Amino acid sequence: MPKRLSARLEAVASLVPKGCYLADIGSDHAFLPIALVERGVISYAQAIDNKMGPFLRMEGHVKEAGLSSHIKTLCSDGLTDIGDEVNALSICGIGGLLTVKLLQRDQAKLTNIDTIIVDPHRDLVAVRKRVSEMGYHIVAEKMVYENKIFYCIIRFDKGAPAKPYDALDLYFGPIARKEKSPVYLEWVADSKKKVSGQLNKNLPPERKDYYLKLYRALSKQLKESEGK
Ligand SMILES: C[S@@+](CC[C@H](N)C(=O)[O-])C[C@H]1O[C@@H](n2cnc3c(N)ncnc32)[C@H](O)[C@@H]1O
Repeated sequence: MPKRLSARLEAVASLVPKGCYLADIGSDHAFLPIALVERGVISYAQAIDNKMGPFLRMEGHVKEAGLSSHIKTLCSDGLTDIGDEVNALSICGIGGLLTVKLLQRDQAKLTNIDTIIVDPHRDLVAVRKRVSEMGYHIVAEKMVYENKIFYCIIRFDKGAPAKPYDALDLYFGPIARKEKSPVYLEWVADSKKKVSGQLNKNLPPERKDYYLKLYRALSKQLKESEGK
């Protein structure tokens, strides 16, 4: 069992509130809760996966780490069986739309949930929009480039945003677009290249207009970072 987390999971770990009771949904190997308990960031967690193979793998890893009394492993679908003691969720590696679907399906289970950490690499607008509509606001965003994919790790805390997120907040991230980290700027440059490719195609006028607006917004982000 690897002792080190991937850069992506390391970024997720860095956003987990100290002392929370975490449910790691789609845990697969349970590396995240194991590392967090071993580091003393949290004392207890649930590691949840809905498939038998990953469930048995999680069980094996948790036993091997000697943490069976700290991490409860469950073969279960999404949030269905999270306990009342759980006050934070990590939902990583399952895609933005499925993440939103699982949260929306079991919204009643969010009563005790103060923090939700997700790591989508696409459908970011839908994730930011839907999770904030469920009564959460974004407190941290970290971008990671791993295996040729840009991930945006987002931490939502309970409570509505001070002002509703606008289109730029939803697309670029209300915090990421202000912080403009080096990986964020690489992502913007990469997106600009892809959008430019689209603009060279023969597109219907409304698609062309959409990509043109996006191209300008991406260029503006890069321009704003000059001299930073
Ligand atoms: C790619 S792994 C991600 C593992 C880890 N969370 C990470 O980010 O590295 C995705 C896991 O989510 C599980 N999964 C997919 N849908 C799920 C659901 N509805 N409920 C629980 N687990 C689910 C899959 O079985 C798989 O083990």
